[in-house]
Amino acid sequence: MARLLITGGAGFIGSHTCLVLLEAGHELVVLDNYANSSPEALRRVVELAGPGAEGRLQVIEGDIRRSADLERAFAEGASTEAELDAVIHFAGLKAVGESVAQPLRYWDVNVSGSQHLLAAMAAHGCRTLVFSSSATLYGYPETVPIPESAPIQPINPYGYTKAAVEQMLRDVAASEPGWRIASLRYFNPVGAHPSGRIGEDPNGVPNNLFPFISQVAVGRREQVQVFGGDWPTRDGSGVRDYIHVMDLAEGHLAALKALLSGGDQLLQLNLGSGQGHSVLEVIAAFAQACGRTIPYEVVARRPGDAATTVADATAAAKTLGWRTQRDLASICRDGWCWQSNNPQGYPKLS
Ligand code: NAD
Ligand code: UFG
Repeated sequence: MARLLITGGAGFIGSHTCLVLLEAGHELVVLDNYANSSPEALRRVVELAGPGAEGRLQVIEGDIRRSADLERAFAEGASTEAELDAVIHFAGLKAVGESVAQPLRYWDVNVSGSQHLLAAMAAHGCRTLVFSSSATLYGYPETVPIPESAPIQPINPYGYTKAAVEQMLRDVAASEPGWRIASLRYFNPVGAHPSGRIGEDPNGVPNNLFPFISQVAVGRREQVQVFGGDWPTRDGSGVRDYIHVMDLAEGHLAALKALLSGGDQLLQLNLGSGQGHSVLEVIAAFAQACGRTIPYEVVARRPGDAATTVADATAAAKTLGWRTQRDLASICRDGWCWQSNNPQGYPKLS
């Protein structure tokens, strides 16, 4: 059992990971300002984790950029004998288009927020960190499947903030012994817990394909726009490496285990399935899962998109002993279970 701080634990990936961590017996303190999430998500996580879980999840509403909030979280997580064992750092902003319009906000939350967190960790002698990085670092990839050694060449402010934090982590790891850090470069996290109780609940019009398709399926939106039918792919639509959020959550558990059982480490690993699916294939798989037709039209390409991004997932398999277990059909089945049971997402608090 470890005592962990989970920043951004109420969000999409954080909530699923909290569940997996509780099920593995860990004690959690979540620090989240609910900028893009609902307290209801963590209430449901505790319910899913079953008897005894409530006492192992403390929630602090606060901001990673505020030292006072971080101090509260570290105090809450410490036992009488020891400080927190590790931090999993999900908190951040993630919308590519918004990052172009509001770059300073992205640098503030993602980079300055991470800097404050690292300072608090150093002050408390907690030097084990799992960081949510992104395949967006690779920009337009030159080699597919993309190995971790591929050049870091972001193409938008969001990507630059992730690259900057990864660099900060390399600098910190090199500055003194004792740091154990894993930057996990997620490909396209989608799906939901199979119970349909927790899932992805984007604000406003979804930017990403999977929640858009789910909202069309449930009748909230009319049709999917397929961004480009002339990509150099097998059916002309864009290809991505979709990873079930429960596989991703289990990847965090595996990374944490690797860090806590070893000496100084600096891991930079892709978390993906190694399989690519096109937009049209995802639409067809979702239609199959929900038993409804998903109307779509092929429109112009979206600026900034690449034709294909697929992970070389071999390093994570070798280093963590982790690989994805769930296929596209499970992703769509579980995503539909969440969307059909929660057509408007989590209940909005008035
Ligand atoms: P999310 O928006 O659902 O979760 C992020 C959480 O952080 C939210 O609960 C939000 O309220 C919280 N938060 C934001 N700013 C905060 C602040 N200043 N202080 C405290 N809490 C704050 O997003 P997600 O999809 O769960 O993503 C989690 C992490 O993974 C992010 O860092 C994101 O950049 C990264 N990531 C996500 C994807 C993806 O496609 N979902 C892909 C690659 C990387
Ligand atoms: N797409 C559509 N219609 C839509 C939305 C998307 O056709 O309404 C297409 C895109 O063109 C792309 C694919 O569906 O081919 C996936 O697009 P997403 O927006 O769902 O995901 P991206 O691959 O563009 O990016 C996502 C996150 C990034 C993250 C990246 C990691 O938005 O933040 O995955 O690989 F970095």
